[in-house]
Amino acid sequence: MRKKVTKAIFPVAGLGTRFLPATKSVPKEIMTLVDRPLVQYAIDEARAAGIKEFIFVTSRGKGALEDYFDHAPQLEQELRRKGKDELLSALKNTNMDSGDIAYIRQHKAMGLGHAVWCARRLMHNEPFAVILPDDVIAAEKPCLQQMVEAYEETGGNMVAAMEVAPDKAPSYGILDVNEDMGSMVSVKGMVEKPAQDEAPSNLAVIGRYILSPDVFRHLNRMKQGAGGEIQLTDAIAQEIAEDKGVYGYRFRGQRFDCGSKAGFLQATVAFGLARDDLRDDLEGYLQEVMAAKQAAE
Ligand code: G1P
Repeated sequence: MRKKVTKAIFPVAGLGTRFLPATKSVPKEIMTLVDRPLVQYAIDEARAAGIKEFIFVTSRGKGALEDYFDHAPQLEQELRRKGKDELLSALKNTNMDSGDIAYIRQHKAMGLGHAVWCARRLMHNEPFAVILPDDVIAAEKPCLQQMVEAYEETGGNMVAAMEVAPDKAPSYGILDVNEDMGSMVSVKGMVEKPAQDEAPSNLAVIGRYILSPDVFRHLNRMKQGAGGEIQLTDAIAQEIAEDKGVYGYRFRGQRFDCGSKAGFLQATVAFGLARDDLRDDLEGYLQEVMAAKQAAE
């Protein structure tokens, strides 16, 4: 029997400079899409995929993130007294039981691979998931759950994958495809942020991974890659060099790059439109804006 994936690493140590000045005092992962912080979407997705242990790799100034997952007895009591059941149940989703969540400091910004490596001792030689909360994925079946189901068949290492425009390849890890099986591809190479004319395909890695603990062995070497950083992509590529399976999984769903302002705004609109309590107002407003724009043209 394949070992179940029950642990997930959430790298949240980034400075979030693209969202300054907001991120001067608010961790990027606490910024809200409609009424939930980015990190809540990541946690909900992990839970749906059967994750039981949540490991956050943080850095200085991320205290608000730890507070967010704390229980808030006073607030809960107040809501209960006022009979605000809906809000109470929304709050419940933010509570983590003691021991289910751990925080590890990445003391120096040395790249995604290094951030993941910081959590190595908590993985106990088991397969684990990595979720990048910046990549928000709207899907009927949550993306990581789709991947866990596919992984039960393949084992090895699996990354979420999506076609991107050729000029966007330099922003991503790019897969060199061995065999294309439709929703899944087997991978014979991976390059982090290649130049456009050196990209082996236009199939990009999106921030969901299921990885073998062997990846830590490759990260141990601390070899610098693209941008002088220790890259997770390079460590996964090492697995291919050792003849272990690496698969790209074309998930069903829409991905928003909430690490960029445009992506964040698009996600805000999409998640707003998906909400029964907001749809009509928001739709009306968007129509008004578009009509005014067209009239002005
Ligand atoms: C990271 C990974 C990259 C991946 C991307 C997905 O890059 O290093 O391989 O394609 O996330 O969002 P970052 O966006 O942190 O530069």
